[in-house]
Amino acid sequence: MKQLRLAIVGATGAVGHELIKIVQERKIPYTELRLLASKRSAGTKIDVGGKEYTVEEATLDSFRDCDAALFAGGPASKAFGRDAAEMGCVVIDNSSTFRYEPDVPLVVPEVNPEALTGHHNLIANPNCSTILLVTALWPIHKHAGVKRAIVSTYQACSGAGKEAMDELCSQSMEVLEGKPVHPEHFKYQIAFNVIPQIDVWVDDDYTKEEMKLVWETHKIMGDDSIGITPVCAVRVPVMRSHCEAVYLETEKHISPEECRELLSKEDYIVLQDDPENFVYPMPITSTDTDKTYVGRIRRDTVEPNGLNMWISFDQLRKGAATNAVQILEELIKRDLLP
Ligand SMILES: NC(=O)c1ccc[n+]([C@@H]2O[C@H](COP(=O)([O-])OP(=O)(O)OC[C@H]3O[C@@H](n4cnc5c(N)ncnc54)[C@H](OP(=O)(O)O)[C@@H]3O)[C@@H](O)[C@H]2O)c1
Repeated sequence: MKQLRLAIVGATGAVGHELIKIVQERKIPYTELRLLASKRSAGTKIDVGGKEYTVEEATLDSFRDCDAALFAGGPASKAFGRDAAEMGCVVIDNSSTFRYEPDVPLVVPEVNPEALTGHHNLIANPNCSTILLVTALWPIHKHAGVKRAIVSTYQACSGAGKEAMDELCSQSMEVLEGKPVHPEHFKYQIAFNVIPQIDVWVDDDYTKEEMKLVWETHKIMGDDSIGITPVCAVRVPVMRSHCEAVYLETEKHISPEECRELLSKEDYIVLQDDPENFVYPMPITSTDTDKTYVGRIRRDTVEPNGLNMWISFDQLRKGAATNAVQILEELIKRDLLP
């Protein structure tokens, strides 16, 4: 198997930390590993499998003679993504910078790995909430055709990065100790609160985070006719793992029992659907795993072809780092690395 010269951009961040772990866990073959971040973290030491690595400042030169780079470095994507790809390094990018560009495949390996064929060295990892949605919808779509999905997201603080995680911790303590809070990362206090806005406003009073669910689901599932309504993307005071309440309507009738049977055939899905015994997906069970958890599947109260469900997964892993590493594995498997 080809041994890679591999770079991880944003190695000191929340997703970067998971990327380093998952590259080891999944035994990605590399001869050289470059850990990159901004100037601020250059010189930081990181232990990788018992070997100490020094974080370097990312520059365009970092990608010279590099076979592949996993980007989770925020502004680094825009600064270096295209140029690194043009230099021959295959870029798998976690940011939203390139997701909507026609020449950039947007890939969830369980759904559309074939989109990697003919790539131009630049591949986008979808938004975490979209990955959660499409991994749950895809088996149902293949069987019964999803016509419509109405979605509310409940997004963990780690979705906003390491500083947001720190803010949730410190603020929770401050509130419990009766001290005044001074939100910095989030617009409002996040401890003991929920905030019905993630990312900036775009047209029609939706947020960009909400519209990503529409744009990206269409691109990944290859069907612009699926009616996606993002009701609200909400930040919740949970450290890790996003949840979504999903209403879906299918072309062909499918009962909750059939839906459970379909989903349970997928090895990346864990069915947690025994409400009588208090079994349903929750962040405390989905955290630190790579599975999509699905539960509370039930018939809609109005629409005969409508189903409701509740889903959850670890957005730092399958919603970002694991998906990116799986894309790299697909490229290796399909012999699509230069
Ligand atoms: N968090 C999630 O659940 C999630 C899910 C899907 C996608 N994403 C995307 O993944 C990316 C990283 O998110 P995160 O949550 O890991 O953020 P984070 O915890 O804030 O980490 C950001 C990382 O980017 C590095 N960085 C910042 N500016 C840089 C530059 N100019 N050049 C090189 N590195 C730079 C930072 O390095 P320093 O230590 O030097 O500041 C840090 O390592 C973002 O694009 C985000 O939208 C995140």
